[in-house]
Amino acid sequence: MTGACLENADRKEEVSTLNDAPIGIFDSGLGGLTVMKAVMRRLPRESIIYFGDSARGPYGPRDIAEIRGFAVEIARFLEDMGVKIVVVACNSATSAGLLEAQRACRVPVLGVVEPGARGAVQATLNRRIAVIGTRATVRSRSYPRAIRLLDAGARVFSRACPTLVDFVERGEVEGARVEAEVRRYLAPLLGQGVDTIVLGCTHYPLLRGVIAGVAGEGIRLISSDEEVAREVEENLVRRGFLRDHGEPPAHRFLFTGDVDRAKELGRVFLGPEVVEVEKVGLPLRGVRG
Ligand code: DGL
Repeated sequence: MTGACLENADRKEEVSTLNDAPIGIFDSGLGGLTVMKAVMRRLPRESIIYFGDSARGPYGPRDIAEIRGFAVEIARFLEDMGVKIVVVACNSATSAGLLEAQRACRVPVLGVVEPGARGAVQATLNRRIAVIGTRATVRSRSYPRAIRLLDAGARVFSRACPTLVDFVERGEVEGARVEAEVRRYLAPLLGQGVDTIVLGCTHYPLLRGVIAGVAGEGIRLISSDEEVAREVEENLVRRGFLRDHGEPPAHRFLFTGDVDRAKELGRVFLGPEVVEVEKVGLPLRGVRG
């Protein structure tokens, strides 16, 4: 075989293996399931490996450099498991370490901040945008930066809402307590006359009902899940890596923390697809140093 033929044969083999390879999605816990749900809706034939780092989550209160280390470690771990693309379904990890994870992996790595920023700029009418997220995300200033790259004149008002992730991880996504907390966080932002709120944490779409109720009519809520799912599709189509046979997809759920709890809440937040949750020990093994 000539060099060119050999290259073509290699490429063919790579394509057929990668067509069937799963998509890797990770978060500090359950929040990334909101992104997984959107990917499943858009790409129902694709198999997904979901990784929830619940033993080390929440990431929000942690140091940016530490979160960056987790992001690189998990992205590589998923790549070593054979995924064809990695989705960092966590704003804190995207803000802290998307670029480093992209540099560390051979497969493409997508984040959630840029899609959310784009959605907000497209939605706002008065160019006054609120961003709510974890402390790490707000501290990193990743959203104001991403928004101003698209509209340098947009006004961005950010607020860290550190307790909201804990409500979600407890499964408390409605009721008076969480509503009072959301009201307390949103009051100063609404006072700034924003017309758009970015849910800058993948846990927050699970509180969408409460947040929408407090924000009131006329305020647009933007989350990046649908936009990220569209980017995943576009990427796989462009590379010719969509899964193309009729067998039902096989999803796997890996968690570093309590698997029974992850299974119970995973079924509530995602659905019956969460049949089994596998425990992954830390530090992650098989990750290239
Ligand atoms: N769901 C995550 C995010 O989008 C992380 C929340 C946390 O672990 O603090 O930021």
